[in-house]
Amino acid sequence: MKIVLKSPLDMHLHLRDGDMLESIARCSSRYFAGAIVMPNLVMPVTSIDEVISYKKRVLKAIGDDKFEPYMTLFFKSDYRYNFLKEAKEYIKAIKLYPSGITTNSEGGVSSFEIDDLRETLEAMSELNIPLLVHGETNGFVMDREKEFSSFYEKIALTFPKLKIVMEHITDKNSVELLNRHDNLYATITLHHLLITLDDVAGGLLRPHLFCKPIAKRYEDREALQKVALNGHPKVMFGSDSAPHPRDKKESCGCAAGIFSAPVALSALCELFEKNDKLENLQKFISDNAIKIYGIKPIKKEIVLEKKEFLVPQKYGNVVPMFAGEKLSWSSYESTSS
Ligand code: DOR
Ligand code: ZN
Repeated sequence: MKIVLKSPLDMHLHLRDGDMLESIARCSSRYFAGAIVMPNLVMPVTSIDEVISYKKRVLKAIGDDKFEPYMTLFFKSDYRYNFLKEAKEYIKAIKLYPSGITTNSEGGVSSFEIDDLRETLEAMSELNIPLLVHGETNGFVMDREKEFSSFYEKIALTFPKLKIVMEHITDKNSVELLNRHDNLYATITLHHLLITLDDVAGGLLRPHLFCKPIAKRYEDREALQKVALNGHPKVMFGSDSAPHPRDKKESCGCAAGIFSAPVALSALCELFEKNDKLENLQKFISDNAIKIYGIKPIKKEIVLEKKEFLVPQKYGNVVPMFAGEKLSWSSYESTSS
């Protein structure tokens, strides 16, 4: 059995830089036609020159693969209209991180007062630049995303023309928010569709499943699955694939992030098949994102074949999700694509 996915897109991806970029970029560019590339490098991407030079390094790392990196800027509250007008040509979105909430986010936002953010958000709204948000407070870890929802509602109402993407949503409250505001959208990761906190910490601690936001309850996973499997038009796939070297994961003070890029399509296919929803995978993996972002991705066909895929133990020095396990679908680029 085979299915063909047209121009799969990963709408939330960490490609890193330097040696890590070189060693993992093709794990995405082989299987996807494009991806929204996160700006949280050690020195976050905050200028047009940095966007241009980072994009060059990404393109070099992917070699001949047909893949478009959609670049982003790291949100700062002092971006001005004229700067953003010029930047718009080079970026697809701007990513807002609360300060210190996750990897390399120290330079993020510390005041969530609308007046402190107004100028940048107003300009983004006028220029039609989507705002991507890591939506967590620094409250109790299981409630962080829920606590953040009042901010989502506030910006959605204050800037009704601004497209706001709630990145990697993890709880049922965020799913409900989607339907409450026209200008709220969401990405969902593979891991939040598959795991709960039990998988991370219910038995022996599994550092390779530790990520931010942390996986939540069974009812949360169910709500996420429901919208993804049904191809909800405001929901897109965003892997949040976030590689860290093995020694940074298997250590005291484990870095947050799950490396899922090389297994994402196979595992998604398995999930959609198991739920008898394969017909909606194309929407989740590409069509919805094309409409939401108004993009025209590179034409690329990826074949998913019902054939065992033994997931490697490591890619370079990064341990992938499902390392050493067997998945039931293999993926490769169609020769006719
Ligand atoms: O688990 C995560 N890892 N969540 C994020 O938001 C960032 C990411 C990373 O960059 O490692
Ligand atoms: Zn991320």
